[in-house]
Parts: sequence; structure tokens; C-alpha cells
Amino acid sequence: MSKEFKVTPWEVTGDIDYDKVVKDFGVQIIDKKLLERIKKHTGELHPTLRRNLFFAHRDLNWILDEYEKGNKFFLYTGRGPSGNTHLGHLFPWFLTKWLQDKFDVKLFFQMTDDEKFLTNSKLDIETTKHFAYENALDVIALGFNPKKTKIYSDYDNAKTFYYHATRVAKKITFSTAKATFGFGNDTNVGQIFYTSMQAVPAFLESVEQGKNIPCLIPHAIDQDPHFRVARDVMPKLGYYKPASVQGMFMPGLVEGGKMSASKPDSAIFTTDDLKTAKKKVMSAFTGGQASIEEQRKKGGNSEICSVFSYFKFIFEENDAKLEKRQKACKEGKILCGECKKDLSERVVKFLEKHQEKREKAKDVLDKFLVKD
Ligand code: TRP
Repeated sequence: MSKEFKVTPWEVTGDIDYDKVVKDFGVQIIDKKLLERIKKHTGELHPTLRRNLFFAHRDLNWILDEYEKGNKFFLYTGRGPSGNTHLGHLFPWFLTKWLQDKFDVKLFFQMTDDEKFLTNSKLDIETTKHFAYENALDVIALGFNPKKTKIYSDYDNAKTFYYHATRVAKKITFSTAKATFGFGNDTNVGQIFYTSMQAVPAFLESVEQGKNIPCLIPHAIDQDPHFRVARDVMPKLGYYKPASVQGMFMPGLVEGGKMSASKPDSAIFTTDDLKTAKKKVMSAFTGGQASIEEQRKKGGNSEICSVFSYFKFIFEENDAKLEKRQKACKEGKILCGECKKDLSERVVKFLEKHQEKREKAKDVLDKFLVKD
């Protein structure tokens, strides 16, 4: 696989060297000491933290300092609704839900339908708005606390968001935007403005409460440039810098790269029927050998195996069992067919339940959605 990779808010490609990303972006590694500190409050650690799948942060120690002083934070995350939700999108939301439950805090969830209209030449406004509602059903289906969770579509909250976004935009020069995002003369001006919209939920709670409230943003690492800019600007407007935790990308089911909506076989969508989902798992890329004999002799390669990574990211919460599976694979004691079958059963079970909850979410959607 090529050593070249790219991680920007609009494009994630190649085999990502996360150590290099940490250096380039200037985020901090989540080390053992910080994990212990989180554990003091949560009693246990979410698998994605234990496994370093959420591996970096900004100002998480400060968030905990404030929390320990009785100054609760709120959570903020979001989704660019360009299509149906797949498991890679759910991945950071699982941690977000866990954080909400453990710390008993509010969540602001932003659906950036405007962003997707501006950055995707194939999408019209009505389609991105439609997917904002569709994706919101998946958020609700995960069981976020209805009393503490608000979902915002940018278009549906244009009045509030535009008001505050202009405050942010006034503090961002074109030269900063260019340096941060690599914009050029062919970039549309909507996209250049957009980062100001993504900053708004990071201080909206402080606006509404009339006092500064710390914000913690769980997100995939590609979104960090937006929040780097937001962190620069927010103190200039009198707010705290938002803190963040950064996650990796869940690999796709086909060889190389993350899950991608533009390659439907690389991802399992929450709306896939069970047969389709099963078929995708059964034809997934693995780290297996060419023949059974070879597999028994040499063992498989779990490091490059998409099926193993699905267990690791979502479908095997038990560390001992995950390790056992990896060992059996390396020793040639388990074949790819068995792993795929195990995974497909778990995926199907998950989807079945999720789709039920997703249907029920339609009845409560209006309770979660904010419109101004
Ligand atoms: N820009 C993000 C995307 O394309 C959506 C988003 C908005 C977001 N606000 C966020 C993601 C906060 C994580 C955290 O997916």
C-alpha cells in the first residue's frame, strides 16, 4: 500500500500514519495517566479508550480539572449528512453516548447539511436536509438522553447559527483559512465561510446560559483543523477554547482506506437490509492466506484484516476475547470463514435492534430537533 495519505476535513485517503498526524496537527496523545484520570470518574474505560482508538486530545486535563471543581462540561459532536449512516459514522457516537451517560452531561449534535451542500457537487439542499433527518434517527436510536440532547440542522437553525457564525468569521482571515485548509482560487466562498458554522455549537451553550461552560468535542481526527481555528477565535469572543478527543477511522470492508459512502461495499449502512449486510461481511477483505493449508501453517494477519478491525472497533467489547481471537488467527487455528460468520451474526443482531429503535425514533424526532 502506498505510504502517502491525506487527512483533511474534506478528504481522507491512504494508509494513515497516526503518529505523523499527531505531530502535524499538534494534538496530545491520550496516555496511561490520563486514562487513569478518566477512570477515576467513570469507574471503567470505554473499549475505544482502552484500545487507543480514541488516541489524542486537546485540553482533556483541563476539562477534568473543571469537572472536579464542579464545573460540568457539555459535549458537542456532529455529522455531515451526505448520505445514509454507516458503522464508521456510529463509531465516535458510541463513545459520545458513553461520555454522556458517565458524566451525565448535555450533548449538542450538529447536522451540517449546509456544509455538505457546499462541498459536494452532486448534492442539492433538499437532499442534504433529508439526510440530516435520516441521520438524526440513527443518533436517537443509539439512546442518547432525550432530556439532555439537542440536534441542530444548520439550515433549520440558520438564524441563530448565522448570527453567531458571523462573529466567528470576522476573526478569521482568508490567509488563516487558506493555511489551515489549503483553499485555493477555485474554492467556493461558501466553503471558506463554513468553518465558522462548525464553531458555533462549541459556544452556543455558553451564549444560552449566559456564562462560560466548558465544551468537549469527540470527533474523528480529520475534523481537528476546524476546531484549531475555533480554539483560536473563541477566546477573542470571550469564550473558553473547546477541548476535544480524536478518534481513528474505522477501516472499510474492502482493502485499504476508511469506510466510504462512495464505495457502498466498503461500509455497512444502518439502513442495509440484513441479507445485504451479511453478504458484505462474508465478502470482506481479510488478512488470510491463499489456501486453508497455508492459513493453518502460517496463520492470518489480523493487523490488516478488516474483519478483525470490526471486532476491535465495535463488535467485541471483551478484551480477553478479542486477544484470544487474534492469537487463534495468528496461530492458524481459526479460519477467515469462521471469523466472518461470527462477525456477520453480530452485525445482523446489531442491525436488527438498531433498525427497530430507528423506526421508533421517528416518533420522537421532533423532541430532539431544534429549529429557530
Ligand atoms: N464536518 C463534520 C463532517 O463532515 C460534521 C461535524 C460538524 C462534526 N460538527 C462536528 C463532526 C463536531 C464532529 C464534531 O462530518
